Amino acid sequence: MILVTGGAGFIGANFVLDWLAQSDEPVLNLDKLTYAGNLENLASLQGDPRHVFVRGDIADGELVTALLRQHRPRAILHFAAESHVDRSIHAPGQFVQTNVQGTYTLLEAARAHLATLDAGEREAFRFLHVSTDEVYGTLAPQDPPFSETTPYAPNSPYAASKAASDHLVRAWHHTYGLPTLTTNCSNNYGPFQFPEKLIPLMIANALAGKPLPVYGDGQQVRDWLYVGDHCAAIRRVLEAGRPGEVYNVGGSSEMANLDVVGSLCDILDRLVPAAGSRRKQISFVADRPGHDRRYAIDARKIERELGWRPAHSFAAGLEDTVRWYLAHQDWVSHVQSGAYLEWVERNYGKRGDAS
Ligand code: NAD
Ligand code: DAU
Repeated sequence: MILVTGGAGFIGANFVLDWLAQSDEPVLNLDKLTYAGNLENLASLQGDPRHVFVRGDIADGELVTALLRQHRPRAILHFAAESHVDRSIHAPGQFVQTNVQGTYTLLEAARAHLATLDAGEREAFRFLHVSTDEVYGTLAPQDPPFSETTPYAPNSPYAASKAASDHLVRAWHHTYGLPTLTTNCSNNYGPFQFPEKLIPLMIANALAGKPLPVYGDGQQVRDWLYVGDHCAAIRRVLEAGRPGEVYNVGGSSEMANLDVVGSLCDILDRLVPAAGSRRKQISFVADRPGHDRRYAIDARKIERELGWRPAHSFAAGLEDTVRWYLAHQDWVSHVQSGAYLEWVERNYGKRGDAS
């Protein structure tokens, strides 16, 4: 079996669902169920013996060690993290705890686990660390996209905590020979993304007739990738990636935030016509402190070495995503709990406009 951490979150849940749709190899899913983890994402697996869910913290070394001893997975796919940049600005401590201490705990447990395997099992074992393009910092408009050799320059507490975890993974390979793989991916979107992130937040607010809060001038650029394409990249890296290597994963789909929000308004206006265009709901608010201006990924290495490339265009993926959220309004209202409302008040309540 494989051990997935954070498999009740956005990308982790998509990964587990895709994995079990294509393979009968069981998944042991370790997730703390923070505000971002939601078993409803995995409801279609209820009663499926191939999915074993354990609620727990990756920073709990005893638990992780016991799970590895009991289930003897052939691979660890590490998705669990605190993932939202704005939350890391308000409260960075949990990001250091989960992303740094939690990754360290997993690496140590994996190292001890490796020593218990026979030569064949040890040869096949992999620790795949799911990371982000934000570790590389920010790009000017004419800069080439981030490659695997771009120097690290993280700018937010979230990015710094992920950069630290990447360094730990690298060191555990070089020093202890742990067969690690690291993926650094650009912005994902698609089903089950928590509505604190740009695309699902804008869909929810647009439908509710609320303002669409665009930070600063809205000209920050992100490289968007459909989550199913990210999951396919991870499966491919697990299958054929070279231990110790890093693979950048991206959509080659750069868009300014304001254009993303405008496109969402147009799709919604077409699918669910309202009195006027939802573009009128766009509201420029104070910028995110330290806001990175542009991310873009050079994904030529994973394409050249492993034959992966994204299957979804941004236009098609965005429309599919809007349709998914329209069809899953119950899911949205369930995650918009009291804690969600407190977050919205904290991040947007006293923000003021962009001027
Ligand atoms: P998410 O916030 O939606 O989900 C994170 C999951 O991890 C949740 O289920 C949560 O309960 C769980 N978790 C958090 N702390 C934990 C802990 N201490 N122990 C066990 N479980 C814990 O995040 P996501 O967007 O699905 O991101 C998954 C991974 O992919 C992260 O490592 C993130 O850095 C990386 N990533 C995300 C994106 C993106 O656009 N969302 C892009 C590139 C990389
Ligand atoms: O690049 C990969 C990263 O993408 C992942 O590592 C992170 O886990 C993921 O959260 C995402 O980070 P971003 O900060 O780019 O995503 P977010 O959805 O928070 O914001 C996308 C852009 O939209 C960013 O420039 C900030 C802007 N934004 C966001 C929100 C929530 C707004 O203008 N208004 C908003 O209300």
